[in-house]
Amino acid sequence: MAESEKSSGNSSALSALSTESRSFPPPAEFAAQANATAEWYERAESDRDGFWSEQADRLHWTKKWDTVLEWEAPFAKWFVGGELNVAYNCADRHVEAGNGDRVAIYWEGEPGDSRTITYADLQREVSKTANALAELGVGKGDRVAIQLPMIPEAVFSMLACARLGALHSVVFGGFSPGALKARIEDAEAKVLITSDGQYRRGKPAPMKENTDEAVAGTTIEHVLVVKRTETDVPWTEGRDVWWHDAVGSASETHTPESFDSEHPLFILYTSGTTGKPKGILHTSGGYLTQSAYTHNVVFDHKPGESVYWCTADIGWVTGHTYIVYGPLANGATQVIYEGTPNTPHEGRHWEIVDKYKVSIYYTAPTLIRTFMKWGEDIPAKYDLSSLKVLGTVGEPINPEAWMWFREKIGKERCPIVDTWWQTETGSQMIAPLPGVTATKPGSAMRALPGISAAVVDDTGTPVGNGEGGYLVLDKPWPSMLRGIWGDNERYKETYWSRFAEQGYYFAGDGAKYDEDGAIWLLGRVDDVMNISGHRISTTEVESALVSHPTVAEAAVVGASDETTGQGIVAFVILRGSAAKDGGEEAIKALRDHVSKEIGPIAKPRQIMVVEELPKTRSGKIMRRLLRDVAENREVGDVSTLADSSVMDLITTGMKDSS
Ligand code: WTA
Repeated sequence: MAESEKSSGNSSALSALSTESRSFPPPAEFAAQANATAEWYERAESDRDGFWSEQADRLHWTKKWDTVLEWEAPFAKWFVGGELNVAYNCADRHVEAGNGDRVAIYWEGEPGDSRTITYADLQREVSKTANALAELGVGKGDRVAIQLPMIPEAVFSMLACARLGALHSVVFGGFSPGALKARIEDAEAKVLITSDGQYRRGKPAPMKENTDEAVAGTTIEHVLVVKRTETDVPWTEGRDVWWHDAVGSASETHTPESFDSEHPLFILYTSGTTGKPKGILHTSGGYLTQSAYTHNVVFDHKPGESVYWCTADIGWVTGHTYIVYGPLANGATQVIYEGTPNTPHEGRHWEIVDKYKVSIYYTAPTLIRTFMKWGEDIPAKYDLSSLKVLGTVGEPINPEAWMWFREKIGKERCPIVDTWWQTETGSQMIAPLPGVTATKPGSAMRALPGISAAVVDDTGTPVGNGEGGYLVLDKPWPSMLRGIWGDNERYKETYWSRFAEQGYYFAGDGAKYDEDGAIWLLGRVDDVMNISGHRISTTEVESALVSHPTVAEAAVVGASDETTGQGIVAFVILRGSAAKDGGEEAIKALRDHVSKEIGPIAKPRQIMVVEELPKTRSGKIMRRLLRDVAENREVGDVSTLADSSVMDLITTGMKDSS
């Protein structure tokens, strides 16, 4: 680990931890009807393979597995020898079980249009899409890139890939053409699925224009284009195909093929500690098993009864696992909303909860803090009595936000599940069971039945209650990543080298046990920032900054932010005349530049022009000290700096410019 990161961690969570003693047991009535009971922990502990077999049995397999787990660290194979079709599990089998008329998706468009899609509709749409993709040359093992807004076609596309045994690589709609291009190139994708435009805060914004830029000169043979906003689009004959033509005219039936349990399902790129995003690879049987299992027990989901809503975007792992695969494998009825939470007004989410009688609501702490800012009067105007379980994901939740969620949204009636997991873990790992766990505001509590996690010190030794360290996963789990696309060495190096001796998976998060042994997540301990629950690496933003001609050097840190968890703060050394007048013009240009290079989510909150950066004698930037500056703290120990006067220069310079 970099010297600069040793003292990192989320200070607000730490201070909350020392004072937090509240604990909320599940209401008796809720506990009595819950899907999972306390016995599940022991059952899973005493016979892990048997436990996971039972969970896998909830799916439809065309061929039963021979062995539950083959573990040649760090490579796992789950349900070895088993065969299944993931898309069949998410659509057809519910229709065959007589639930074709059950609503799969209540889709709510940002401008107010809506669609209701039953499981029979889903089966038909996925079949048509699979036929259209096959017609475009997509088959088993091929890669399909998808950049779409939150529209049902995104779900159809992902499941159509799964049906064909092709891997999807979904790229968040807010990523720049450059970011999309890098992902297309790394995966050597054959087809891109996109749309003419997307709605952003009430206005249509172009999409295809950007994706065209990304596609140029890559392996993409066809671009399949959904018409969403009626925006004029540039068109390349022979390459571009309208969705309504290709899918519209395709046959409504498609016979799903069975694939090996370990057949790749998708690649999803996520930020690591270097500038190059990692293509996280997930496979079929184990991923679907744990996704369906966790969706069932953590949300206490009741098929045909619950109305479920996960507010994530399909471009992130939460959208993959808890909008597409988990809920649809469980035959859920769910809401998918296209737009932003304040379009056209700040009560939009609560209006939707009220309209569809949502019973399970899963969101990000950042959004809860935003709702708090907008005021409690807004949710108070709506009937939220349908809610039963509330969930959070993506970043540590501060106790104030947790309590607000509990009181103002859950009316002190709904259990809250704070769920810790990662793109790499595929599905939830540490979370309460809502009918079992007495929850504490701000803690993800303990590893789920069948999952094993530990907090260890520098040497890999487990720490005791009341102590902190690094979060590790010490036993393989079904939905674990199977590698980094095309780079097994990086996979081993990134996750398995830190505690190689013990064979632990290093999550990159700091964590602490409280006096009762509950786990509190404390934020990343590496160079990954968490902005509104989105992972962005400091080096990625630094590379974007130095690619601008005015920048000589740059250092980026994540500074704590009241709403977004962390905010991006950049320190830059400008070249020559760019620094004149405090570099104001340059700063504006740089913010736009980063937004164009990576996407608006990576735009620095603050850019400070400095003359020097604090470095160790070996030339490493000491981000810890910059974080002190960015968070307005007294600057810590500077004794390892090559030139200890640098920090004076930075802090005085800042006072001058403020
Ligand atoms: C953070 C999102 C605290 C953590 C599913 C992790 C959390 C990273 C929580 C993964 C939580 C996620 N409490 N921190 N409940 N959930 N994180 O890959 O730092 O986008 O390593 O997956 O988010 O982010 P990713």
